[in-house]
Amino acid sequence: MNTTKAGKLICVGTGLRMAGQMTPLALSYIKTADIVVGAIPNNFARKWLQEIAKEYTCLLGYYQDCDVDGKDRRDTYRRMADTVLTEVRAGKTVCAAFYGHPGIFACIAHLAIQDARAEGYSAEMLPGISTEDCLVADLGLDPGRTGMQSMETTQFMIYERHIDPSALLILWQPYLAGELTLKRFETSPAKLQVLVDKLARDYPREHTVILYEAATTPFEVPRMESLKLCDLPHAVLNGITTLVIPAASPLKPDATVLAQLAA
Ligand SMILES: C[S@@+](CC[C@H](N)C(=O)[O-])C[C@H]1O[C@@H](n2cnc3c(N)ncnc32)[C@H](O)[C@@H]1O
Repeated sequence: MNTTKAGKLICVGTGLRMAGQMTPLALSYIKTADIVVGAIPNNFARKWLQEIAKEYTCLLGYYQDCDVDGKDRRDTYRRMADTVLTEVRAGKTVCAAFYGHPGIFACIAHLAIQDARAEGYSAEMLPGISTEDCLVADLGLDPGRTGMQSMETTQFMIYERHIDPSALLILWQPYLAGELTLKRFETSPAKLQVLVDKLARDYPREHTVILYEAATTPFEVPRMESLKLCDLPHAVLNGITTLVIPAASPLKPDATVLAQLAA
């Protein structure tokens, strides 16, 4: 986008594992931007960015908003995007840094880019290495083999979704399963049982699922814990856990289409 307005926004991803999963282009913006505004939960990764950035503002404090009466996660994300925009409006080149991919299950970068462009500023997103990239590598799952469905856990629970059990299913944020207030960061065995019951419409309760956590430092190994679907309510789910549900049935040929193609 051509714009003459001073102030520019570049949203970058830092990958999941500290150092080494950031693209050279993202790293160069982090080093050269007037200011880096970051939401990086890993302490080591955040300290490293603070050291290499000219100036660093941390967005994580806004999560305490959720303790304030009447505020929910959407208010928090809005305030984070507004903080990014304030720096752009001040005429700075702003690098907004998020872990993983800045645009995958992460609305702040999308909000900030939309607003910046609407106000006439140059704004772009650079891709980063996301959870899905890491789990494909660690678990050795090729989405091309069965196809892949990927969605947020609570969204899967509360909406009518048509799940294909012959394809891989990735459920993000299972630690928030069924959390409808948007104010708490937790689930419960009862809510996870509701999730299991919904999944059991398409999968056997004995089906093996995987709790996946990519390593976030070079000193860790990934968590790749297999368990039965029915045991999920009592599993340990952390903020960085992703639920991976491998295909439960073989691909079924579509006889109608095959006949049309043969005609
Ligand atoms: C708000 S989303 C952020 C995703 C991030 N933007 C990305 O590109 O992967 C948070 C969810 O991502 C997944 N996630 C984040 N870190 C992870 C990790 N180290 N291993 C596995 N999944 C992770 C979990 O499902 C978590 O609840």
